Amino acid sequence: MKVAAPPIVIAIDGGSSCGKSTLAKALAKQLDYTYIDTGAMYRAVTLFFLRNGIPIDDPTAIEHALNGIDIHFAAVKGENHTFLNGRDVSQDIRSMEVAGKVSEVAALPQVRHFLVAQQRRIGSSCGVVMDGRDIGTVVFPHAALKVFLQANLDIRARRRHLELQQQGTKVTFEEVLSNLSQRDQIDSGRSMSPLKPATDAVIIDTTDLDIQEMLDLVLGLAKQTLNAQMLPQ
Ligand code: DC
Repeated sequence: MKVAAPPIVIAIDGGSSCGKSTLAKALAKQLDYTYIDTGAMYRAVTLFFLRNGIPIDDPTAIEHALNGIDIHFAAVKGENHTFLNGRDVSQDIRSMEVAGKVSEVAALPQVRHFLVAQQRRIGSSCGVVMDGRDIGTVVFPHAALKVFLQANLDIRARRRHLELQQQGTKVTFEEVLSNLSQRDQIDSGRSMSPLKPATDAVIIDTTDLDIQEMLDLVLGLAKQTLNAQMLPQ
């Protein structure tokens, strides 16, 4: 006889607009796990830096700014919202202004140390689905299941453009395409925690998959992982 496995960490990594957050949210719901969007954390820090004019080449100013930042997530009408120092910034962090700066801010070692420590704290206390760029490689190198999503750049830009239009943001397809391609370069090329699949990640190309197909695939992997970890009584 076996008893249920303890809750696990599921790492979902990949470039922007590969479907990570939609997949991770749906997966967390199915498993009754906590969902953590680490991109939202980097975006919230970027928003704070922009609003407060923090120079990103001044380590002392950055240290001081980070000490004044509190980020947390809470459900609002069933949706996962991001709070920066008590204010709901879920909409503001999706602006093109933040998107234009976030990769530079996310490349700063001080910022990464600050956020990785918080991500580890959250993930060590419960079953969690965490999406980002370095979850399987750095934040949780021993995660029980690691998935790395990739997709054709044109398709990703189309998905992101549609999403921004639905939110009422005026932006051209070319601007979105150029932002994504620039972010890919910075995120993959930085020296600390670059975007790359962990050696033991399952790589999934989402170019031709819809959300249900992605979910079925990854839910199957999660169930296999949980079954393999069931403990003998
Ligand atoms: O997933 P996203 O597009 O919201 O992420 C915004 C930026 O944050 C992305 O350009 C890279 C950075 N990021 C990161 O460096 N590490 C993570 N774990 C998550 C996001």
